[in-house]
Parts: sequence; C-alpha cells; structure tokens
Amino acid sequence: MKRNVYAYIHTIGCQMNTYDSEKFMVILAAMGYEKTLDLEKADIVICNTCSIREKAQEKAFSFLGKIAGRKNSSKRPISVMAGCVAQQEGREVFKRIPNLDIVLGTQAFSRLESHVQAVQEGRTRIADTDESNEIFELMPDGSEEQKVTRFVTIMQGCDNYCTYCVVPHVRGRERSREPEKILQEIRALAGDNVKEVTLLGQNVNSYGKKEGVCSFPHLLEQVSAVDGIQRIRFATSHPKDLSDDLIAVMRDNSKVCNHLHLPVQSGSNRILKKMNRKYTKEIYLERIARLRSQCPGVALSSDMIVGFPSETREEFQETLDLVKTVEFDGLFAFSYSHRPNAPASTFSDEVDEQEKMARLSELLELQEFYTRKKNLACVGNVEPVLVEGESAKKRTGHDREEDGLPQMTGRTSSGKIVHFLSPDTVPGDILNITIEKAYAHSLWGRV
Ligand code: SAH
Ligand code: SF4
Ligand code: F3S
Repeated sequence: MKRNVYAYIHTIGCQMNTYDSEKFMVILAAMGYEKTLDLEKADIVICNTCSIREKAQEKAFSFLGKIAGRKNSSKRPISVMAGCVAQQEGREVFKRIPNLDIVLGTQAFSRLESHVQAVQEGRTRIADTDESNEIFELMPDGSEEQKVTRFVTIMQGCDNYCTYCVVPHVRGRERSREPEKILQEIRALAGDNVKEVTLLGQNVNSYGKKEGVCSFPHLLEQVSAVDGIQRIRFATSHPKDLSDDLIAVMRDNSKVCNHLHLPVQSGSNRILKKMNRKYTKEIYLERIARLRSQCPGVALSSDMIVGFPSETREEFQETLDLVKTVEFDGLFAFSYSHRPNAPASTFSDEVDEQEKMARLSELLELQEFYTRKKNLACVGNVEPVLVEGESAKKRTGHDREEDGLPQMTGRTSSGKIVHFLSPDTVPGDILNITIEKAYAHSLWGRV
C-alpha cells in the first residue's frame, strides 16, 4: 500500500498570498498530497513569501533555512520558496539556503507541479522567475477547510510604482482576470457555503480598465447577484482612483459592506509627491467627505508609512493631524523600510532608525484613541453580524457568565469583530446583535 504524503504551507504577507497558498494546495492535492498542520510530518514544505519590508523577507529565510538546513537529509522534505521574495532574489536564494529545492517566482505558480516532479526525479535547485505576466487561474476544489468568508484575487500585479514599494517589481504588470472566471469561482465558493467574499487587488478601482472588460463597480454588482453570497468586501483602493461610481455602489448595494480601506501613507503633500502617490492630502480629504456624505456610518481604515526618507518632524506632525481630522476606525502603520529596486532606497536623508520607531509608536498610540472611540460609539447599536465560528480566545468578565454557552465570533458590515454567547448559532448565520461593550480591538454583544 502507498504511504500517505503530506504538504505543509507557511504563508507570510498579504491576503493575496493567502489566496495563492490555497491554490498551491489545490495543485498539491491533485498530486496526491494531503494538507498537514504538523511540520514534522510534511513531505513537502512551501513557504509563500513577502518582500514588502525587510522583516517579512527575513522571516522567510529563517523559516526555510531551518527546514532545508536539517542535518539529516532523510528528514528533509522537498522545500519550496514561493512568491515575492522568490521573484526578487531568484537563484541568489541558493547562496543563503543551499539545500532548498525550488524557488518559485510569482509568475511561475502554474508550473509548481512540474518542478516538484523534477525534484522527485532527482533534480535540485530549480529557480523559475520568468516574467510572463501570466494570470494564475485555478478553480477551487472544495478541499479548503469550511470557512464562510474567502478571498478572491481579481487582479494581479501593479502599475503604480510608488517609490517605496517593491510590489510592481515582484508581481509584474497590472492585469485583471476575466469577470466570467471570477464569477465562476465565486459561484463555486457559494456552493460550498461561503457567504462573504473579499475581492483582492493592489488597486481594485482600476479593475478591468486596461483590458476594457468591465468596471469595478459593475463587477461588484455582478458578484452581488451570485446566489448565496451575502456580503462583499474589497481591498485595496487607491485614493487617486476612488470614483463616484464606486461610492454609489457602496451606498446602494446592501451586500457591499460599509467599510473602505483607503491607504493614505502620509499627511504631508511633499512626502506624498516623493512617494509618487498622485494625490494630495486635500484630494484625499475631499474623497472621504464625499464617501461619508453618501454612506453614513461607513468605517474607514488606512495604511501609513512613517520615516520615509527626508520626512521632517513637522511633516510627521501633518500625518498625526490627518489622523486627528479623519478619525480612522483602524490604521496599519509601518516604519519605512528600504527595498531593493524601489527608487526611494536611493533617496537621501534617511530618517534615523530610533526616530522612526519613536514616530511609529506615537502614531499607533494616537490611533488607539480613535479605534477605542469608534468602538465605543457602537455600544447600544443593533448590528447584523455574520457568524464566522467559535471565538479562539474566550472573553471573561462580561456581565452574564452564562456557563456552557459557546462563545461565538463574527463581524459587522463595517468589519468590526463581535464576540457573543449563543447556544444554537452556526457559521454563516447573520444575526442581529446588540452591542453592549467595547474592547480595544473588538466588541461584545447580545443576540
Ligand atoms: N496596494 C496597496 C498596498 C500594498 S502593500 C496600496 O497601494 O495601498 C501594504 C502596505 O505596506 C502599503 O500600503 C504601505 O503602507 C506598506 N509598505 C509598502 N512598502 C513599504 C516599505 N518599503 N516600507 C514600509 N512600509 C511599506
Ligand atoms: Fe505598492 Fe503603490 Fe502598487 Fe500599492 S499602489 S502595491 S503601494 S506600488
Ligand atoms: Fe508582500 Fe508580495 Fe503581498 S510583497 S504584501 S506578499 S504582494
């Protein structure tokens, strides 16, 4: 009898990597591999990597270095570095991890099977970083664990060339999937009890423009017509392309969630210009005013970079001021990190590492105040919550310790996490929950 073979996939980076990793598993399952969460049991290990900041990149090297560096070669699984670091570094990876088997660039995913077969036949050190700008298309096979929310990548690559960013260099040119392929995939997911999809792209507002297929607002309308899909989210939107048409769909289509992630990156016009973001603080604020006037109660989140080369203390203060003006529901803040190939790595007047860290904590502390404020403002509201499953961490200290009731978790349309007690709820239900309490990063409520 043949022994079972197992695959372990470690994913670092953005939601698109999560999506791609699910596709890797579809390929491996067709080759006979079963998914395992036990690294020791794995016959093949894939690390899907991210190169957005140096820290993420180093995590990948350290993880794979341990696997491929195992002294006892019989305990060494087939090892694969996939994704953005693989694309960026190519064969150079073998200098740091000599026993790694495969370097699989971002446009080589469809060749995973043939490269694994080659390794099984005795080949070593395969690097595939061909820049084909291929669109990686693979329908789900239903093997993913049952989840009610799933990601669907609708476009790949990026053409925006923000000066700090590695994505256009490692993910290739912007290209959109055909609407029919996307809809086919979402119909399959809905058939698998998926209730919410998050449509992914580096700049979803420019979906379909190059290909002239269909606009992003129109795609949203079509996705909302898929039977079974109750909610639609999307990320990321670029402020320069946030159209009134999109705002209108958010306002009029009840399945499109009342949340927008709109990365601003800085509150200083001089820095925004150096970043090549193509909008000013004033344009950003105008877009937000428009959105808020059309979609009352809309939740807003953003990304911010502190310590961009030559950012002065005053310019950083402008970033803080913007946060105070907008009052975001959530913020992802990053300390600027030099990236190979990104033009900003040659810019002068680097900000001192200690100063960057100080700015980062100041910004995060300020945002904590607004996150809490926004959460507190929900108390007393009745919010429809899509139930995702049992809470991973049990909350204690709430008023009613109704023993034995399972503690469940889900999200509001605005994307806020809600915990509540319920005896007979299953993932996928949408319940009206009265919000009773606000924690720093989640809410507590009653069915
Ligand atoms: N396409 C999206 C986001 C891509 S990367 C957008 O345009 O908004 C996610 C976030 O990582 C970015 O929004 C930015 O805030 C951050 N980031 C990108 N490059 C970075 C770098 N070199 N240093 C620090 N943060 C960076
Ligand atoms: Fe990077 Fe800018 Fe493209 Fe976003 S829009 S992925 S930050 S280059
Ligand atoms: Fe990272 Fe690549 Fe995503 S660099 S953020 S994994 S596109």
